[in-house]
Amino acid sequence: MTQILDGKAMSRQILDGLKNEVASYRQKGFRAPGLATILLGNDPASAVYVRNKRKRADDVGIKSFKYDLPTQTTQLELLTLIEELNNQGEVDGILVQLPLPAHIDTSLVIYAVNPDKDVDGFHPENIGKLSLGHPRFLPCTPKGCMYLIQASKSKLLGAHAVIVGRSIIVGKPMAYMMLNTDATVTICHSNTRNLREHTRQADILITATGIPHLIGEGDVKEGVVIIDVGINKLEDGTLVGDVDFDAVKNKAAAITPVPGGVGPMTISMLLENTVAAYRHHLS
Ligand code: GUN
Repeated sequence: MTQILDGKAMSRQILDGLKNEVASYRQKGFRAPGLATILLGNDPASAVYVRNKRKRADDVGIKSFKYDLPTQTTQLELLTLIEELNNQGEVDGILVQLPLPAHIDTSLVIYAVNPDKDVDGFHPENIGKLSLGHPRFLPCTPKGCMYLIQASKSKLLGAHAVIVGRSIIVGKPMAYMMLNTDATVTICHSNTRNLREHTRQADILITATGIPHLIGEGDVKEGVVIIDVGINKLEDGTLVGDVDFDAVKNKAAAITPVPGGVGPMTISMLLENTVAAYRHHLS
């Protein structure tokens, strides 16, 4: 029987745990944890993601500092805001939703966030720590993928993990996390030749391409664990992953659905990182 990796249920459990933890701090008289979310521009998908992050933060008892900035906000204005939040004692975590408009240098923005408040885990100091095997904040989406892989109970030591996608948000940090758990890692991307030759070797396949149904039945081997990060909207409005779920489902030992797999985990990981930052800032 194929195991369906239910990110929605797992996420709910994690959020409940965080809510209890925050409540116990509050009962002892400590301030609430604080998360600043910055949304720049009017990309509809980003607006939905940020709205959900804020809502879940409220549910858990995290105080939201919300910044909805117009598209024409300058780089200097954004960097000035980040600097203020770096110095604001009630703010434990800072999230700048990506992608940013083209006139803003994303790297500069990521570099500007205090690494102690970098709950996205994108700052070079945090990526560096992760690459060295002693992470501080793990980037949220790959961290959520790790939880789901662990729930599949598949052995990571020596397993061949094939990652399709090399973004800073998913592919690269995912590769470090898999390496840190002693998997053998292959990273594929848009210039990889014969993608299928690689994906067919995967014991664990993680896809983050944004190409609907890129992976079909012939692209995976029997018993694979599939983590599908893709959330793609078809013309009729249906949400599908990078993997053709129905076609590969019976071949996989475990697979994430879309929606309801990786997506909900990303938010709970953000809030888990925020509470970790809070704990650290209180101590
Ligand atoms: N855009 C898509 N995923 C993410 C994420 O995990 N963090 C941020 N900041 N932006 C994103």
